[in-house]
Amino acid sequence: MIGDQKILFSGMQATGTLTLGNYLGALKNWLELSDEYECFYSVVDLHSITVRQDPAELRKRARNLLTLYIAAGLDPKKNCIYYQSHVSGHAELAWILNCFTYMGELNRMTQFKDKAAKHADNINSGLYTYPVLMAADILLYQADVVPVGKDQMQHLELTRDIAQRFNAIYGDVFTVPEAYLGKVGAKIMSLQEPTKKMSKSDENANASIYLMDDPDTIIRKFKRAVTDSEACVRYSENQPGIRNLIDIYCACTGKTPEETEKEFDGKGYGDFKMAVGESVVSVLKPVQERFADLSKDKAYIDGIIKENAEKANYYATKTLRKVQKKVGFPERIR
Ligand code: TYM
Repeated sequence: MIGDQKILFSGMQATGTLTLGNYLGALKNWLELSDEYECFYSVVDLHSITVRQDPAELRKRARNLLTLYIAAGLDPKKNCIYYQSHVSGHAELAWILNCFTYMGELNRMTQFKDKAAKHADNINSGLYTYPVLMAADILLYQADVVPVGKDQMQHLELTRDIAQRFNAIYGDVFTVPEAYLGKVGAKIMSLQEPTKKMSKSDENANASIYLMDDPDTIIRKFKRAVTDSEACVRYSENQPGIRNLIDIYCACTGKTPEETEKEFDGKGYGDFKMAVGESVVSVLKPVQERFADLSKDKAYIDGIIKENAEKANYYATKTLRKVQKKVGFPERIR
């Protein structure tokens, strides 16, 4: 707790270009929860270097991502929006937690297996211990709740296991966090292969809607989206393409799948795809406009970066000192 509020932590990687999946699966829920919690939203740049990055490009993307958090509507005065690399406690706690995590647990992580297959020439130990760093991110702020998309659930489970293991040895040190999955949009699928999640790293640009896509591009991608053969707008397991489009439509409009089926009863896929595209444009356009404005205000963004790094460091150090003491490191002499 900070004051009388519970704590929320979440983060995103500044790798690749953010997709509609990131927005509907995570950012949108962050916005909905931000009044209720004391929130820490990190641009997790330490995670990004588990795969090779161009340094200038990474710096630029990280700043864009931080700006985007604010453009999406998170108030940087109320929410702590910061770069993970500006708080050394993340790496320090990760080291300690590495000593409380079993290789058997890490071997089971499906995201590691996927990424190792994708980057076979660079299976570094950072990629392997990535979930421990993620646990450190969350536990460092004593987070109660962590809003994420479905693909991060396995990492969240591991975080809980590590926290419980540590607490069982040293007493109540860490809050054991709960994952928060939104009702809709927790897993947005590729527009081209709807059995695969929409991903920043997809090579086919038509498979993903990027948050900075202009309206024409968005509409064009939806027109090209792969659908099914039943020729009706029905929310069913057998129609993964249409089901995904219904999920997107519901997440953007607040309607339910049943309402959507009724609305498009008797209409073809063409009309429906157009409506989905327009609903996405209406959500993303204001974010893009605010992003363009904010990006021009260098001094304002710099101020936020500095202020929030201080705030994050303050809370991170509190937990870190407690943990260091528990495991037996000598006290600092002042
Ligand atoms: P990342 O950067 O891959 O994704 C950021 C968030 O977007 C969600 N997401 C999706 N949700 C629905 N449908 C999709 N197709 C989709 N694609 C991505 C992700 O679930 C995530 O919530 N390891 C994390 C970043 C991280 C983190 C943390 C998150 C590092 N430390 C601590 C929470 C707490 C990641 O790579 O997310």
